[in-house]
Amino acid sequence: MTSHALRVAAQRRVLFVGGKGGVGKTSLASALALARARQGARVLLVSTDPAHNLGHLWDRTVGDSAVRLAICPGDVRAGQAESVGGYVDGLEIDPQRTVDRHLAAVGVTMRRLLPERMRGAAERHLALAREAPGTHESAVLERIAEAVETGTRDYDLVLFDTAPSGHTVRLMALPEQLTVWTETLLANRDRSDRFGEALQGLGGSASRGGGRADRRTSERHAELRQVLERRQQRFARLRDVVGDHELTAFLIVLTAERLPVAESLDLHEQLSGLGVDVGALVVNRRSPSGAGEVLAARREQEDTQLALLRARLPGVLLDEVPLLPGELVGDVALSGLAAELTGAGRAG
Ligand SMILES: Nc1ncnc2c1ncn2[C@@H]1O[C@H](COP(=O)(O)OP(=O)(O)OP(=O)(O)O)[C@@H](O)[C@H]1O
Ligand SMILES: [Mg+2]
Repeated sequence: MTSHALRVAAQRRVLFVGGKGGVGKTSLASALALARARQGARVLLVSTDPAHNLGHLWDRTVGDSAVRLAICPGDVRAGQAESVGGYVDGLEIDPQRTVDRHLAAVGVTMRRLLPERMRGAAERHLALAREAPGTHESAVLERIAEAVETGTRDYDLVLFDTAPSGHTVRLMALPEQLTVWTETLLANRDRSDRFGEALQGLGGSASRGGGRADRRTSERHAELRQVLERRQQRFARLRDVVGDHELTAFLIVLTAERLPVAESLDLHEQLSGLGVDVGALVVNRRSPSGAGEVLAARREQEDTQLALLRARLPGVLLDEVPLLPGELVGDVALSGLAAELTGAGRAG
């Protein structure tokens, strides 16, 4: 039977795969990408985890711009001259490179827009910003927004392999915070603009200088406002897409053990609170039955944890993926895991 996860992936354009550290997020996100590509979809697989390992898993070099990871020749369908094949492109967001690029761009804008006497302070501000907490997160978020924007245009599915839960929830909440922050800045800007106009209306100091200098100031204001507004629009769009249940879903990966179950319940609650649709839970590395005493005992413990999970989240869609033998690296291993999701696997 096809997994809920694959069905959810086929119905959405944007998918986030998250969960506790080490439960199999990267493996399952990759297997899902491959399974969708085999169904003919063009998939962009994006790792947002600073500790990337897409490259390790796919056994090739993956970096900060997209590389082709798999091409799946499709069937020749009725009425179509060419086969409709899917593919997987992968990219690993590099937060430091993103921050440096971002600050360089902001620096150029600031040097152009700010009066000479403020530039020293601005440079110091940028140098601090490079190391400030939150800088990496907002850079990653900016790249997520970009990947969603360009990815939904050029691909059928944008699939994010995310960092362990806490980090990802903060990230999901950020578009909201950043939009509010920019709105506040814009509101201040509005006030000072109106203040300037008022002064001019009264024939006060703002109009006394007259002419060119004033016009330059208001041009700078307009440009600054535009930069802020573009950023705000980008985050607002991301927030809209992430909150749109027809477009976006979140998959929680876990293993059937006490801590991952507890953390998944928290994650489910936090995401739902943020208006994010949790499409399905994928219980990974299930121990087999009938394979000796040790594994039978493990499976029994897992059953208890799953019963608890089901009781806490009645109605939630739940997949089970078996523990596979051998190391999960390279095309063959990924194919095996993908087969578990399409229902063609051993446990199928
Ligand atoms: N179904 C499975 N059967 C056997 N091994 C698995 C299975 N799924 C994942 N693994 C193995 O579990 C380990 C963790 O998997 P993975 O790296 O995908 O987890 P992760 O959640 O992305 O980890 P991190 O939080 O560190 O990013 C890897 O060694 C992987 O090969
Ligand atoms: Mg991972």
